[in-house]
Amino acid sequence: MSKKILVLAGDGIGPEIVAEAIKVLDALQAEGAIDVTMEEALVGGAAYDDCGDPLPAATLEAAKASDAVLLGAVGGPKWEPLHFSKRPERGLLGLRAGLGLFANLRPAFLYPQLADASTLKSEVVSGLDIMIVRELTGGIYFGEPRGVETLESGERYGYNTLCYKESEVKRICRVAYDIAMKRGKRVCSVDKANVLEVTEMWREVAIETAADYPEIELSHMYVDNASMQLVRAPKQFDVMVTTNMFGDILSDCAAMLTGSIGMLPSASLNAEGQGMYEPIHGSAPDIAGRGIANPLATILSVAMMLRYSLDAGEAADRIEAAVSKVLDQGLRTGDIMSEGMRQVGTAEMGDAVVAALRA
Ligand code: NAD
Ligand code: IPM
Ligand code: MN
Repeated sequence: MSKKILVLAGDGIGPEIVAEAIKVLDALQAEGAIDVTMEEALVGGAAYDDCGDPLPAATLEAAKASDAVLLGAVGGPKWEPLHFSKRPERGLLGLRAGLGLFANLRPAFLYPQLADASTLKSEVVSGLDIMIVRELTGGIYFGEPRGVETLESGERYGYNTLCYKESEVKRICRVAYDIAMKRGKRVCSVDKANVLEVTEMWREVAIETAADYPEIELSHMYVDNASMQLVRAPKQFDVMVTTNMFGDILSDCAAMLTGSIGMLPSASLNAEGQGMYEPIHGSAPDIAGRGIANPLATILSVAMMLRYSLDAGEAADRIEAAVSKVLDQGLRTGDIMSEGMRQVGTAEMGDAVVAALRA
Protein backbone atom coordinates (compact mmCIF):
# COMPACT_ATOMS: atom_id res chain seq x y z
CA MET A 1 0.00 0.00 0.00
CA SER A 2 1.16 3.50 -0.82
CA LYS A 3 2.75 5.38 2.10
CA LYS A 4 1.91 9.01 2.76
CA ILE A 5 4.67 11.59 3.05
CA LEU A 6 3.89 15.13 4.15
CA VAL A 7 6.42 17.58 2.71
CA LEU A 8 7.04 20.78 4.67
CA ALA A 9 9.62 22.87 2.82
CA GLY A 10 9.58 25.78 5.28
CA ASP A 11 11.76 28.87 4.97
CA GLY A 12 15.10 30.12 3.69
CA ILE A 13 17.01 27.31 1.97
CA GLY A 14 14.21 24.89 3.01
CA PRO A 15 12.43 24.87 -0.38
CA GLU A 16 15.78 24.62 -2.26
CA ILE A 17 17.05 21.55 -0.41
CA VAL A 18 13.66 19.84 -0.19
CA ALA A 19 13.28 20.13 -3.98
CA GLU A 20 16.42 17.98 -4.36
CA ALA A 21 15.17 15.42 -1.83
CA ILE A 22 11.92 15.16 -3.79
CA LYS A 23 13.89 14.47 -6.98
CA VAL A 24 15.42 11.48 -5.21
CA LEU A 25 12.02 10.23 -4.01
CA ASP A 26 10.55 10.73 -7.50
CA ALA A 27 13.39 8.74 -9.07
CA LEU A 28 12.86 5.83 -6.68
CA GLN A 29 9.13 5.98 -7.24
CA ALA A 30 9.51 6.02 -11.03
CA GLU A 31 11.43 2.76 -10.99
CA GLY A 32 9.03 1.15 -8.54
CA ALA A 33 11.53 0.91 -5.68
CA ILE A 34 9.10 2.72 -3.35
CA ASP A 35 5.38 3.42 -3.34
CA VAL A 36 4.63 6.82 -1.82
CA THR A 37 2.25 9.70 -2.23
CA MET A 38 3.46 13.18 -1.38
CA GLU A 39 1.42 16.09 -0.13
CA GLU A 40 2.75 19.56 0.68
CA ALA A 41 1.76 21.90 3.49
CA LEU A 42 2.97 25.10 5.12
CA VAL A 43 4.94 25.48 8.34
CA GLY A 44 7.12 28.15 9.94
CA GLY A 45 7.45 31.63 8.50
CA ALA A 46 5.81 30.56 5.25
CA ALA A 47 2.73 29.46 7.18
CA TYR A 48 2.72 32.61 9.27
CA ASP A 49 2.79 34.75 6.12
CA ASP A 50 -0.09 32.74 4.71
CA CYS A 51 -2.43 32.60 7.71
CA GLY A 52 -0.78 34.19 10.76
CA ASP A 53 0.07 30.85 12.39
CA PRO A 54 3.45 29.02 12.16
CA LEU A 55 1.68 25.69 12.65
CA PRO A 56 -1.79 25.79 11.06
CA ALA A 57 -4.17 23.14 12.41
CA ALA A 58 -4.43 21.67 8.90
CA THR A 59 -0.66 21.10 8.81
CA LEU A 60 -0.61 19.32 12.16
CA GLU A 61 -3.59 17.19 11.13
CA ALA A 62 -1.93 16.29 7.82
CA ALA A 63 1.27 15.40 9.70
CA LYS A 64 -0.64 13.13 12.08
CA ALA A 65 -2.33 11.43 9.13
CA SER A 66 0.94 10.76 7.30
CA ASP A 67 3.40 7.88 7.65
CA ALA A 68 6.32 10.32 7.63
CA VAL A 69 7.06 14.04 7.41
CA LEU A 70 9.93 15.55 5.43
CA LEU A 71 10.89 19.00 6.67
CA GLY A 72 13.37 21.50 5.23
CA ALA A 73 13.99 24.21 7.81
CA VAL A 74 12.15 27.09 9.41
CA GLY A 75 13.00 30.59 10.57
CA GLY A 76 14.77 33.69 9.44
CA PRO A 77 15.38 37.35 10.29
CA LYS A 78 12.09 38.41 8.70
CA TRP A 79 10.14 36.76 11.50
CA GLU A 80 12.42 37.55 14.44
CA PRO A 81 10.45 40.64 15.52
CA LEU A 82 7.26 38.56 15.91
CA HIS A 83 5.82 37.65 19.27
CA PHE A 84 7.44 34.44 20.57
CA SER A 85 4.27 32.40 20.04
CA LYS A 86 4.13 33.30 16.34
CA ARG A 87 7.76 32.62 15.44
CA PRO A 88 8.56 29.96 12.84
CA GLU A 89 10.44 27.85 15.40
CA ARG A 90 7.20 27.39 17.36
CA GLY A 91 5.85 25.60 14.30
CA LEU A 92 8.66 23.08 14.38
CA LEU A 93 8.43 22.59 18.15
CA GLY A 94 4.64 22.24 17.86
CA LEU A 95 5.07 19.45 15.33
CA ARG A 96 7.55 17.63 17.55
CA ALA A 97 5.25 17.93 20.56
CA GLY A 98 2.04 17.31 18.61
CA LEU A 99 3.36 14.10 17.10
CA GLY A 100 5.13 13.02 20.30
CA LEU A 101 8.49 12.75 18.51
CA PHE A 102 10.57 12.18 21.63
CA ALA A 103 13.49 10.35 20.04
CA ASN A 104 15.80 12.38 17.82
CA LEU A 105 18.53 10.42 16.04
CA ARG A 106 21.38 12.50 14.69
CA PRO A 107 24.07 10.36 13.08
CA ALA A 108 27.44 12.05 12.64
CA PHE A 109 29.05 9.91 9.96
CA LEU A 110 32.11 11.00 8.03
CA TYR A 111 32.14 10.04 4.40
CA PRO A 112 35.82 9.18 3.90
CA GLN A 113 35.89 11.41 0.82
CA LEU A 114 35.27 14.40 3.10
CA ALA A 115 38.09 13.81 5.56
CA ASP A 116 39.80 16.92 4.18
CA ALA A 117 36.64 19.03 4.35
CA SER A 118 36.56 18.99 8.14
CA THR A 119 38.25 21.80 9.99
CA LEU A 120 39.82 19.09 12.14
CA LYS A 121 42.82 17.03 11.08
CA SER A 122 41.77 14.08 8.95
CA GLU A 123 43.36 11.55 11.34
CA VAL A 124 41.12 12.88 14.13
CA VAL A 125 37.91 12.41 12.15
CA SER A 126 38.56 9.60 9.66
CA GLY A 127 36.36 6.61 10.42
CA LEU A 128 34.00 8.74 12.50
CA ASP A 129 30.57 7.16 13.09
CA ILE A 130 28.64 8.50 16.07
CA MET A 131 24.91 8.32 16.78
CA ILE A 132 23.64 11.16 18.93
CA VAL A 133 20.30 10.32 20.54
CA ARG A 134 18.68 13.55 21.65
CA GLU A 135 15.56 13.70 23.83
CA LEU A 136 13.22 15.94 21.82
CA THR A 137 9.92 16.64 23.56
CA GLY A 138 11.00 17.47 27.10
CA GLY A 139 13.64 19.28 29.09
CA ILE A 140 14.17 23.00 29.11
CA TYR A 141 12.53 23.42 25.68
CA PHE A 142 9.13 22.52 27.08
CA GLY A 143 9.45 22.83 30.88
CA GLU A 144 7.07 24.99 32.88
CA PRO A 145 7.08 27.58 34.30
CA ARG A 146 8.62 29.71 31.58
CA GLY A 147 8.40 33.31 30.53
CA VAL A 148 9.57 36.84 31.06
CA GLU A 149 8.04 39.06 33.75
CA THR A 150 8.67 42.50 35.09
CA LEU A 151 9.59 42.48 38.76
CA GLU A 152 8.39 45.06 41.27
CA SER A 153 11.78 46.69 40.98
CA GLY A 154 11.00 47.32 37.31
CA GLU A 155 13.69 44.95 36.13
CA ARG A 156 12.79 42.11 33.74
CA TYR A 157 13.08 38.52 34.90
CA GLY A 158 13.26 35.67 32.38
CA TYR A 159 13.10 31.99 33.22
CA ASN A 160 12.82 28.50 31.75
CA THR A 161 12.64 25.20 33.56
CA LEU A 162 14.77 22.14 32.98
CA CYS A 163 12.69 19.18 34.10
CA TYR A 164 12.32 15.51 33.22
CA LYS A 165 10.08 12.74 34.41
CA GLU A 166 11.80 9.45 35.11
CA SER A 167 9.67 7.83 32.38
CA GLU A 168 10.92 10.33 29.79
CA VAL A 169 14.54 9.55 30.64
CA LYS A 170 13.89 5.84 30.63
CA ARG A 171 12.31 5.75 27.18
CA ILE A 172 15.06 7.79 25.51
CA CYS A 173 17.73 5.65 27.19
CA ARG A 174 15.99 2.55 25.85
CA VAL A 175 16.09 3.98 22.34
CA ALA A 176 19.81 4.66 22.73
CA TYR A 177 20.54 1.20 24.14
CA ASP A 178 18.49 -0.53 21.42
CA ILE A 179 20.43 1.36 18.75
CA ALA A 180 23.75 0.62 20.45
CA MET A 181 22.94 -3.10 20.51
CA LYS A 182 22.99 -2.97 16.69
CA ARG A 183 26.26 -1.01 16.67
CA GLY A 184 29.26 -0.94 19.00
CA LYS A 185 27.25 -1.57 22.20
CA ARG A 186 28.76 1.50 23.87
CA VAL A 187 26.63 4.38 25.15
CA CYS A 188 27.83 7.62 26.69
CA SER A 189 25.12 9.45 28.61
CA VAL A 190 25.85 13.17 28.69
CA ASP A 191 24.61 15.24 31.62
CA LYS A 192 25.51 17.95 34.10
CA ALA A 193 24.97 15.76 37.15
CA ASN A 194 27.56 17.69 39.15
CA VAL A 195 25.40 20.81 39.14
CA LEU A 196 21.79 20.04 38.13
CA GLU A 197 19.62 17.72 40.24
CA VAL A 198 17.45 16.81 37.27
CA THR A 199 20.46 15.44 35.41
CA GLU A 200 21.70 13.68 38.51
CA MET A 201 18.39 11.81 38.29
CA TRP A 202 18.96 11.38 34.54
CA ARG A 203 22.22 9.59 35.34
CA GLU A 204 20.57 7.33 37.94
CA VAL A 205 17.78 6.39 35.54
CA ALA A 206 20.29 5.76 32.75
CA ILE A 207 22.11 3.31 35.03
CA GLU A 208 18.90 1.61 36.23
CA THR A 209 17.58 1.24 32.66
CA ALA A 210 20.88 -0.28 31.55
CA ALA A 211 20.24 -3.22 33.90
CA ASP A 212 18.03 -4.65 31.12
CA TYR A 213 20.96 -4.39 28.70
CA PRO A 214 23.83 -6.36 30.24
CA GLU A 215 25.87 -6.18 27.04
CA ILE A 216 25.83 -2.38 26.89
CA GLU A 217 28.90 -0.60 28.17
CA LEU A 218 27.47 2.57 29.70
CA SER A 219 29.61 5.58 30.54
CA HIS A 220 28.78 9.09 31.71
CA MET A 221 30.24 12.45 30.87
CA TYR A 222 29.54 16.02 31.86
CA VAL A 223 28.39 18.07 28.89
CA ASP A 224 31.25 20.56 29.05
CA ASN A 225 33.81 17.76 28.88
CA ALA A 226 31.76 15.98 26.19
CA SER A 227 31.91 19.02 23.92
CA MET A 228 35.66 19.17 24.40
CA GLN A 229 36.08 15.40 23.83
CA LEU A 230 34.01 15.60 20.63
CA VAL A 231 36.63 17.90 19.19
CA ARG A 232 39.67 16.29 20.84
CA ALA A 233 39.02 12.61 20.15
CA PRO A 234 35.55 12.08 18.62
CA LYS A 235 36.11 8.45 17.69
CA GLN A 236 35.92 7.44 21.37
CA PHE A 237 32.11 7.73 21.03
CA ASP A 238 29.68 5.17 19.65
CA VAL A 239 26.19 6.25 20.82
CA MET A 240 25.62 9.39 22.90
CA VAL A 241 22.33 9.97 24.71
CA THR A 242 21.42 13.32 26.17
CA THR A 243 18.84 15.99 26.95
CA ASN A 244 17.04 18.17 24.45
CA MET A 245 19.25 21.22 24.73
CA PHE A 246 22.58 19.44 25.23
CA GLY A 247 21.76 17.30 22.18
CA ASP A 248 20.98 20.37 20.09
CA ILE A 249 24.34 21.91 20.87
CA LEU A 250 26.46 18.75 20.68
CA SER A 251 24.98 17.73 17.32
CA ASP A 252 25.93 21.03 15.66
CA CYS A 253 29.41 20.50 17.06
CA ALA A 254 29.50 16.91 15.77
CA ALA A 255 28.29 18.09 12.36
CA MET A 256 31.56 19.89 11.78
CA LEU A 257 33.40 16.59 12.28
CA THR A 258 31.62 15.31 9.16
CA GLY A 259 32.82 18.23 7.07
CA SER A 260 29.80 20.50 7.28
CA ILE A 261 26.48 21.00 8.99
CA GLY A 262 25.09 20.49 5.50
CA MET A 263 25.87 16.75 5.81
CA LEU A 264 24.01 15.78 8.99
CA PRO A 265 20.50 14.27 8.66
CA SER A 266 18.06 13.43 11.43
CA ALA A 267 15.07 11.31 12.31
CA SER A 268 12.57 12.25 15.02
CA LEU A 269 10.47 9.29 16.05
CA ASN A 270 7.47 8.66 18.27
CA ALA A 271 6.44 5.50 20.08
CA GLU A 272 4.44 4.34 17.05
CA GLY A 273 7.41 4.56 14.66
CA GLN A 274 5.98 7.58 12.91
CA GLY A 275 8.71 10.03 12.08
CA MET A 276 9.72 13.46 10.94
CA TYR A 277 12.91 13.76 8.94
CA GLU A 278 14.98 16.90 8.55
CA PRO A 279 18.54 18.09 8.21
CA ILE A 280 19.88 19.31 11.56
CA HIS A 281 20.83 22.67 10.10
CA GLY A 282 18.57 25.68 9.89
CA SER A 283 17.21 27.88 7.12
CA ALA A 284 20.64 29.43 6.47
CA PRO A 285 19.31 32.92 5.67
CA ASP A 286 22.82 34.04 4.72
CA ILE A 287 22.84 31.80 1.63
CA ALA A 288 19.10 31.40 0.93
CA GLY A 289 17.89 31.97 -2.61
CA ARG A 290 21.32 31.57 -4.17
CA GLY A 291 21.14 27.92 -5.16
CA ILE A 292 24.34 27.04 -3.29
CA ALA A 293 23.08 25.22 -0.16
CA ASN A 294 24.17 21.63 0.36
CA PRO A 295 21.13 19.35 -0.12
CA LEU A 296 22.88 16.18 1.08
CA ALA A 297 21.72 16.36 4.72
CA THR A 298 18.14 16.50 3.46
CA ILE A 299 18.70 13.72 0.94
CA LEU A 300 20.28 11.61 3.68
CA SER A 301 17.24 12.41 5.85
CA VAL A 302 15.12 10.82 3.12
CA ALA A 303 17.28 7.70 3.47
CA MET A 304 16.55 7.68 7.21
CA MET A 305 12.83 8.10 6.42
CA LEU A 306 12.83 5.10 4.11
CA ARG A 307 14.67 3.02 6.69
CA TYR A 308 12.78 3.97 9.86
CA SER A 309 9.23 4.82 8.74
CA LEU A 310 8.62 3.40 5.27
CA ASP A 311 10.12 -0.06 5.55
CA ALA A 312 12.32 0.50 2.51
CA GLY A 313 15.79 -0.19 3.89
CA GLU A 314 17.17 -1.27 0.55
CA ALA A 315 16.24 2.03 -1.12
CA ALA A 316 17.77 3.83 1.87
CA ASP A 317 21.06 1.97 1.36
CA ARG A 318 21.00 2.94 -2.29
CA ILE A 319 20.59 6.65 -1.49
CA GLU A 320 23.56 6.54 0.86
CA ALA A 321 25.62 4.71 -1.75
CA ALA A 322 24.61 7.29 -4.37
CA VAL A 323 25.76 10.12 -2.10
CA SER A 324 29.07 8.34 -1.65
CA LYS A 325 29.43 7.92 -5.39
CA VAL A 326 28.80 11.60 -6.06
CA LEU A 327 31.48 12.47 -3.53
CA ASP A 328 33.79 10.00 -5.30
CA GLN A 329 33.14 11.93 -8.49
CA GLY A 330 34.60 15.00 -6.77
CA LEU A 331 31.39 17.03 -6.72
CA ARG A 332 31.14 19.45 -3.78
CA THR A 333 28.87 22.27 -2.70
CA GLY A 334 30.70 25.29 -1.32
CA ASP A 335 30.48 24.21 2.33
CA ILE A 336 32.39 20.95 1.69
CA MET A 337 34.64 22.27 -1.08
CA SER A 338 38.32 21.39 -0.97
CA GLU A 339 41.24 21.63 -3.36
CA GLY A 340 40.98 19.73 -6.61
CA MET A 341 37.22 19.14 -6.30
CA ARG A 342 34.50 20.54 -8.56
CA GLN A 343 32.13 23.04 -6.98
CA VAL A 344 28.46 22.61 -7.82
CA GLY A 345 25.19 24.22 -6.78
CA THR A 346 22.23 22.74 -4.94
CA ALA A 347 20.35 21.50 -8.02
CA GLU A 348 23.42 20.07 -9.72
CA MET A 349 24.22 18.11 -6.56
CA GLY A 350 20.66 16.75 -6.40
CA ASP A 351 20.75 15.80 -10.08
CA ALA A 352 24.08 14.03 -9.57
CA VAL A 353 22.64 11.95 -6.70
CA VAL A 354 19.69 10.97 -8.89
CA ALA A 355 22.03 10.02 -11.75
CA ALA A 356 24.18 7.94 -9.37
CA LEU A 357 21.05 6.25 -8.06
CA ARG A 358 20.02 5.26 -11.58
CA ALA A 359 23.47 4.09 -12.66
P1 NAD B 1 21.82 27.59 10.31
O1 NAD B 1 22.04 26.14 10.51
O2 NAD B 1 20.66 28.00 9.49
O3 NAD B 1 23.13 28.21 9.64
C1 NAD B 1 24.41 28.20 10.27
C2 NAD B 1 25.50 28.33 9.21
O4 NAD B 1 25.59 27.11 8.48
C3 NAD B 1 25.23 29.42 8.19
O5 NAD B 1 26.43 30.05 7.84
C4 NAD B 1 24.66 28.67 7.01
O6 NAD B 1 24.88 29.27 5.76
C5 NAD B 1 25.39 27.32 7.10
N1 NAD B 1 24.56 26.24 6.57
C6 NAD B 1 23.49 25.69 7.17
N2 NAD B 1 22.95 24.74 6.37
C7 NAD B 1 23.70 24.70 5.26
C8 NAD B 1 23.64 23.92 4.05
N3 NAD B 1 22.70 23.00 3.84
N4 NAD B 1 24.59 24.14 3.09
C9 NAD B 1 25.55 25.05 3.29
N5 NAD B 1 25.66 25.82 4.41
C10 NAD B 1 24.73 25.65 5.38
O7 NAD B 1 21.76 28.24 11.75
P2 NAD B 1 21.42 29.76 12.21
O8 NAD B 1 22.03 30.71 11.25
O9 NAD B 1 21.76 29.81 13.63
O10 NAD B 1 19.84 29.85 12.11
C11 NAD B 1 19.15 30.43 11.00
C12 NAD B 1 17.65 30.25 11.20
O11 NAD B 1 17.32 28.85 11.12
C13 NAD B 1 17.12 30.71 12.55
O12 NAD B 1 15.87 31.31 12.33
C14 NAD B 1 16.98 29.44 13.36
O13 NAD B 1 16.00 29.51 14.35
C15 NAD B 1 16.58 28.47 12.28
N6 NAD B 1 16.90 27.07 12.56
C16 NAD B 1 15.98 26.16 12.14
C17 NAD B 1 16.24 24.80 12.26
C18 NAD B 1 15.24 23.85 11.77
O14 NAD B 1 14.31 24.20 11.08
N7 NAD B 1 15.36 22.56 12.10
C19 NAD B 1 17.47 24.38 12.80
C20 NAD B 1 18.39 25.34 13.22
C21 NAD B 1 18.10 26.68 13.08
C1 IPM C 1 17.31 22.03 15.58
C2 IPM C 1 16.98 23.49 15.76
C3 IPM C 1 15.73 23.66 16.59
C4 IPM C 1 16.05 23.14 17.99
C5 IPM C 1 15.14 25.08 16.68
C6 IPM C 1 15.01 25.73 15.35
C7 IPM C 1 13.81 25.04 17.36
O1 IPM C 1 18.07 24.17 16.28
O2 IPM C 1 16.45 21.30 15.07
O3 IPM C 1 18.42 21.62 15.91
O4 IPM C 1 16.61 23.89 18.81
O5 IPM C 1 15.72 22.00 18.26
MN1 MN D 1 19.90 22.97 16.37
